[in-house]
Amino acid sequence: MAKPVFILNGPNLNMLGTREPDIYGAETLADISAACSKRAGELSLKVEVRQTNQEGELVEWVQQARTEASGVIINAAAYTHTSVALLDALKACDVPVIEVHLSNVYKRESFRHKSFVSPAAHGVICGFGGQGYLFALEAMAAIHANENE
Ligand code: DQA
Repeated sequence: MAKPVFILNGPNLNMLGTREPDIYGAETLADISAACSKRAGELSLKVEVRQTNQEGELVEWVQQARTEASGVIINAAAYTHTSVALLDALKACDVPVIEVHLSNVYKRESFRHKSFVSPAAHGVICGFGGQGYLFALEAMAAIHANENE
C-alpha cells in the first residue's frame, strides 16, 4: 500500500474562510482538503490532511512522516517564522518536504520573510492561495517520479 503524503497545517489555519479573507481568501480548510484529495487521486497519490494549533503536535507529525508518509507538504503558519524545533524535525524526516503559504509572505511584514522551514524544504510555494497546495502536490508527484527513475 503506497504511503500518503502528509499535508500538515499549523495554527489558525482552521479559521480559513473567516480569518482575514482579504489575505487568505474565502476557501475553508475543508475546501482545500477536498481539492487536495481530488488532485491527489488524479496524480495517483494519497493524502492525509491535518491541522493543529500546537507546535509539539506538528513536530510529532513530522517525526511520524519519516516512517508513515511518502512526503510532507507543510504550511506551518506562524510557526514557520519561529520554530527551530520544527526545522530540526523536518531535517530529520528523510522524506521530501514542500513548504506552502497561501499569502505571498515576501509582500508582507518583514518578520514573515524569515522561514525556519525553508532550509529543510525541497521548494517553497507562496502567494497562490489554496491553489498553492495543488501545485505542491504536482511538485511532489514530480519528485517521486524522479526518485523512481
Ligand atoms: C501563512 C503565512 C504566515 O505568515 C501566517 O502566520 C499564517 C499563514 C500563509 O499561509 O500565508 O498563519 O503561512
